[in-house]
Amino acid sequence: MCGIVGYTGPQSASVPLIAGLKRLEYRGYDSAGIALGTAGKLFVEKKAGKLSNLESALDSSLPSVHSGIGHTRWATHGGPTDQNAHPHLDNEGKLAVIHNGIIENYTELRIALEAKGHKFSSQTDTESVAHLLSDLRKEHQGDLTKAMRDAVKVLRGSFTLLAIHADKPEEIVGVRRNSPLVVGVGTGENFMASDVSAFIEYTKQAIELGQDEIVTMDPTSVVITDLDGKTIKPKTYEISWDATAAEKGGFSHFMLKEIFEQPKAVADTLIGRLSDNNQILLDELHMSKQEIQSLKKITVIACGTAYHAGLVAKYAIEKWAKIPVEVEIASEFRYRDPIIDSTTLVIAISQSGETMDTLMAVRHAKSAGARVLAICNTNSSTIPRESDAVLYTHAGPEIAVASTKALLTQIIAVYLIGLHLAQANGSLSDQQVHEIYNELLELPGKIEQILETVEPLRELTRKFAKNDTVLFLGRNIGYPVALEGALKLKELAYIHAEGFAGGELKHGPIALIDQGTPVIAILPAGKEHALDEKMLSNIQEVKARGARVIVIAEEGVVVEGAEHVITIPVVRPIFQPILATVPLQVFAYEMAVARGNDVDQPRNLAKSVTVE
Ligand code: G6P
Repeated sequence: MCGIVGYTGPQSASVPLIAGLKRLEYRGYDSAGIALGTAGKLFVEKKAGKLSNLESALDSSLPSVHSGIGHTRWATHGGPTDQNAHPHLDNEGKLAVIHNGIIENYTELRIALEAKGHKFSSQTDTESVAHLLSDLRKEHQGDLTKAMRDAVKVLRGSFTLLAIHADKPEEIVGVRRNSPLVVGVGTGENFMASDVSAFIEYTKQAIELGQDEIVTMDPTSVVITDLDGKTIKPKTYEISWDATAAEKGGFSHFMLKEIFEQPKAVADTLIGRLSDNNQILLDELHMSKQEIQSLKKITVIACGTAYHAGLVAKYAIEKWAKIPVEVEIASEFRYRDPIIDSTTLVIAISQSGETMDTLMAVRHAKSAGARVLAICNTNSSTIPRESDAVLYTHAGPEIAVASTKALLTQIIAVYLIGLHLAQANGSLSDQQVHEIYNELLELPGKIEQILETVEPLRELTRKFAKNDTVLFLGRNIGYPVALEGALKLKELAYIHAEGFAGGELKHGPIALIDQGTPVIAILPAGKEHALDEKMLSNIQEVKARGARVIVIAEEGVVVEGAEHVITIPVVRPIFQPILATVPLQVFAYEMAVARGNDVDQPRNLAKSVTVE
């Protein structure tokens, strides 16, 4: 939800800024802009639409200067126009600001600033910050850091802000509140960005920032202060991701690359989790056996695709650890007086670690006394930092907006937690855990098998490209898979797609079935599974009403009446989501390509949603 980058150092600033924006474009792509630190008056260019529009506009006219800020926008206040694109300037054109988040009190600020004579040229909430900072900077005799400190004291909402002023162009000042910002520390150059992918090709040294911390950087120094002006010791860490991990590597889209990275992502998330004496190793949970045994309930909170990992958690944890699990969409959680206390473990699942809905739910859970465990893919992001414990997934950077490999690793994390809790509760023996863990280790190879045979599926998918509705059916652990299949299709193909529990079909959804409606049914895993027959009946029911049925089934299962059967390797039933999800990702991907949609940056979406 808006990508932000700042640079100061010896390079021609537009180079690292544009490179950084390319990596951050997944966060928003309604418009893009840069302000370069030319002395006297800033050089500013901004354009509605994708970053490529900005790049074309910059072609001829770029001054070679050594500092600047850049922004790629997901519009909140004000439509996606050139005028509303960031950076926003003060009336002298000397101070520029970029922003990620929402300034809630922008209307009152704007009225007060207009009354003082400031002229506004956009409909954004951000522009008020540019004018406010301009006044405050004058009050502080040109000190932009002090101005930012005072500005933050009056701003309400969530924001990451970066500012630059033409009188001291080598200096960039940033701040974060409820929105992400990291500092990249190079040699003779420094960076600020929404996430580390923006600068990993230049440095692997990063500094994480706390709430309301203000960063002032120039090429050779980074100073962090709090709202009282007290200097804060930087919390530095080394970025483990490789720059090439954030590139397409020969694939036509990031999403396809990420689908094919799933075997590795799953394997990496599983590495080293079983000790020689068959104990699941999850020291990062920081919970003693007694604490686990006294848990009365687990509540999982998440959004979007991560919510589907949460649904899988319910099946796995209740089955193995015998602890009741409820799963809730994070944005709903805090508005319904949830019953949670110190005997509740809240598990917050988030790829980015920045989703505002999930973050607010985490805060609510903590204030109610619950222990919060985050499952997250992004080191040092806000949700893990505010949680009591974090289990990191090792999917590597996920750039495509539609989540794929992150989901599979979240489900793996959920399995590991379930096994760990079961072991502490004594509901699974060490031997059972050993067997289950060994089967987990076989999953990367089985995903590989599916990926080796997706070509016929891609071909089949293209036949459905003109359909405007696709329905998904699942039962038991196949139900979250159906929901995820439908979500992927909505996100990527922009068509009506719904996932239903097979048993609910007769209670309404069957009315949607018409001649030729495609229905994708996920047959429950395990040939002995009683639900198998029920799902086979559902397939007949929709077929009798004209549906074209595609079935996802285990090898060796015979399905009558399906137009096409996609086979997946046999696994322990509870592991089925890891495999059954993969063909659905490919289906959605191929549909988007066939319909000419932007796969990696679907319309209206953003990867990291930092507003509620
Ligand atoms: C956005 C993305 C989804 C993602 C959801 C949760 O809506 O478009 O793909 O599943 O946010 O993101 P998180 O980073 O919290 O997992």
